[in-house]
Amino acid sequence: MFEALGEERHFHLKRLTRGLMVAGTALTFALAAPLAPAHATEEADVTRGEAAYEASCASCHAAPARIIARVEGADDAEKTEALEAFLPDHYAEDDQDRADIIAYMLSL
Ligand code: HEC
Repeated sequence: MFEALGEERHFHLKRLTRGLMVAGTALTFALAAPLAPAHATEEADVTRGEAAYEASCASCHAAPARIIARVEGADDAEKTEALEAFLPDHYAEDDQDRADIIAYMLSL
């Protein structure tokens, strides 16, 4: 009797958990949607930069931290300047991708 009750509860809990997960996913999309269109006017985003780095750079540069360490510049502003000059002709033509990738590299 107790065991049956326990199983029933467990079943409900599982359904509840699944329901919450579905609701959570829907909410995530609802919140993300207004931010989705990617053009260069958006603020640079580290998470997007990591994905862009994986897609455009990682095949040749496995260790982004090593690359950014070698870029000339005493601080982030100078390194950003150097990368903004170099990357348009080096696999990051897209302004938004480039801004995101630079933000990601500087976050390492
Ligand atoms: C097809 C291979 C390839 C891809 C893809 C690639 N790179 Fe490179 N990258 C190189 C090579 C080769 C060099 C020059 C040799 C070196 O410094 O390792 C270089 C040099 C660099 C440098 C200069 C390093 C220094 O010494 O100053 C930076 C910064 C850099 N890459 C960043 C990137 C970023 C960011 C991406 C993605 C948008 C990218 N690379 C994509 C091959 C690649």
